[in-house]
Amino acid sequence: MDIGLIYGSSTGCTRAAARQIREELGPECVRSCHDVRACGQSAFAARDLLIIGASTWSVGELQQDWDRLVPHLEGLNLEGKRIALFGLGDQRNYPKTFVDGMGLLYDKLDALGACLDLGTWPTDGYSFQSSLAVRDGRFVGLALDDENQSKLTASRIRHWCGQLRRQLGLPEGVIRAA
Ligand SMILES: Cc1cc2nc3c(=O)[nH]c(=O)nc-3n(C[C@H](O)[C@H](O)[C@H](O)COP(=O)(O)O)c2cc1C
Repeated sequence: MDIGLIYGSSTGCTRAAARQIREELGPECVRSCHDVRACGQSAFAARDLLIIGASTWSVGELQQDWDRLVPHLEGLNLEGKRIALFGLGDQRNYPKTFVDGMGLLYDKLDALGACLDLGTWPTDGYSFQSSLAVRDGRFVGLALDDENQSKLTASRIRHWCGQLRRQLGLPEGVIRAA
């Protein structure tokens, strides 16, 4: 399995989560881990699977580096490209726009043809009013809240990575050994 990870992070929380995800799945499997600041369209063409992470800023807006890149993705064909998402947010201070950035990215990548069925995540254990990242009662990817639930981040990442392994048909530990 050849996975690429791309994240956008303003104060380092999403970067830290990206590194934990890479560590959990194994660097020999997650072959690259790039800040979106340094990425262009070509980063999306490589790899069997992409893991993409973004935080939410302003009120319900995409992290600024993603916001800058998204218009340049116009015309990119992601037909069939498998992408799993994760998003960082703050459910206490932004309960009406919790991890909206992940939902905005979902819509954009979906419109470009990506296959986004991997890595959806339950909303249990979070307290918020609304989120663009919730579809059919589940988050479209892993939701993390380092502001209010930092103690849950490591276990959420571990469980989410375990779920990804199962969805990819790889038993626990196989990715690490691949
Ligand atoms: C000015 C400001 C606006 C924010 N807006 C939102 C928001 O609308 N929704 C949300 O879920 N989190 C919001 N957050 C929380 C950030 O997404 C959160 O702190 C995240 O961990 C930052 O990750 P990063 O350092 O990787 O960018 C906001 C934080 C700040 C400081």
